Amino acid sequence: MMVCEYKPGLEGIPAAQSSISHVDGQKGILEYRGIRIEELAEKSSFLETAYLLIWGELPSKEELEAFEYEVRYHRRIKYRIRDMMKCFPESGHPMDALQASAAALGLFYSRRDLHNPAYIRDSVVRLLATIPTMVAAFQLMRKGNDPVRPRDDLDYSANFLYMLNEKEPDALAAKIFDICLILHVEHTMNASTFSARVTASTLTDPYAVVASAVGTLGGPLHGGANEEVIQMLEEIGSVENVRPYVDNLLQRKAKIMGFGHRVYKVKDPRATVLQNLAEQLFAKFGHDKYYDIALEMEQVVAEKLSGKGIYPNVDFYSGLVYGKMGIPTDLFTPIFAIARVAGWLAHWKEQLAENRIFRPTQIYNGRHEIPYIPIDQR
Ligand code: CMC
Repeated sequence: MMVCEYKPGLEGIPAAQSSISHVDGQKGILEYRGIRIEELAEKSSFLETAYLLIWGELPSKEELEAFEYEVRYHRRIKYRIRDMMKCFPESGHPMDALQASAAALGLFYSRRDLHNPAYIRDSVVRLLATIPTMVAAFQLMRKGNDPVRPRDDLDYSANFLYMLNEKEPDALAAKIFDICLILHVEHTMNASTFSARVTASTLTDPYAVVASAVGTLGGPLHGGANEEVIQMLEEIGSVENVRPYVDNLLQRKAKIMGFGHRVYKVKDPRATVLQNLAEQLFAKFGHDKYYDIALEMEQVVAEKLSGKGIYPNVDFYSGLVYGKMGIPTDLFTPIFAIARVAGWLAHWKEQLAENRIFRPTQIYNGRHEIPYIPIDQR
């Protein structure tokens, strides 16, 4: 057997062959099935992009309408799932609530027919349709309210914002939210996608695949960074405090949240689009002082860390966009999950097409031939 060099974090080691998305980290390019994200952000919708990722081609008009129809009419969650979620502690993090709820779907849809295209489609539709409903339901129930029923006359993003805020969203906000979902839907072999593929490779059900990926996405080095960015901007408080704050972090060798990426060595193209969306929201709904702090921060960090290729990543401006829409900070990562579920499902489908269970090796660096010491002699 060939012995490979050990790379912590598997940096640079291919874990799969995939035709779903492509990143050029030097040029700052991200493509879904070969199409640049900037073009999809401008011309597509989240559900159309999800279809593209999962089935490999842009849908025809009829295919898209049929897909949208199916997702629209599967948005309701079972009463027993809602009742289960009611028992969750309101102090719990919404990502934990989402992970538990996604796993619970597997209890209700336990059939595992992985070679049947109809089963694959039903699972994709059910997960895309119900994950936003579960995120919104937990948000309302933890405030002591009953969840609101999905509205069939609203599209995917408008319906989510309606369920979350109990009122019909502004059209620009709903459009911008949909673009945010497009920007977060897929990103090659990141930690949660890897987790999804490992789980998929055991031939378990797609609910377990999504639940394991949600658990992985929640950490502050991955999707959880967007929450921490807002906390950081609030802590900084003013433009004048940015430089000393950054200096202090760097002296302590702490990471600056929302900056840096394993693959991008230039500004993340998603951050550029998100920054533009934030500006559109500020133009309509009023300026945000945290944006001035963020701009100063981008400049100061570039001065100090551009030599290491550290620039804003997707999480730097997304929080400002969601914050301006009135979305609570601890829902930022669940919203990331609402988008990313389509990417995980594309990888689930791709993994099943040529499956081999993940079973890497390890380099054992422990001891050998140690005698067992009875407990009273330790
Ligand atoms: N702030 C300050 N220095 C940094 C940062 C940062 N955010 N990111 C990397 N560096 C430095 C790091 O200290 C190291 O310097 P040196 O070589 O002198 O020791 C060098 O850059 C390489 O860093 P690394 O930690 O080896 O890089 P990595 O590829 O393992 O880490 C990362 C990538 C995203 C985990 C890291 O940049 C980070 O922790 N960023 C902050 C958290 C964050 O914003 N996460 C969201 C990532 S994008 C969305 C997602 O994946 O969900």
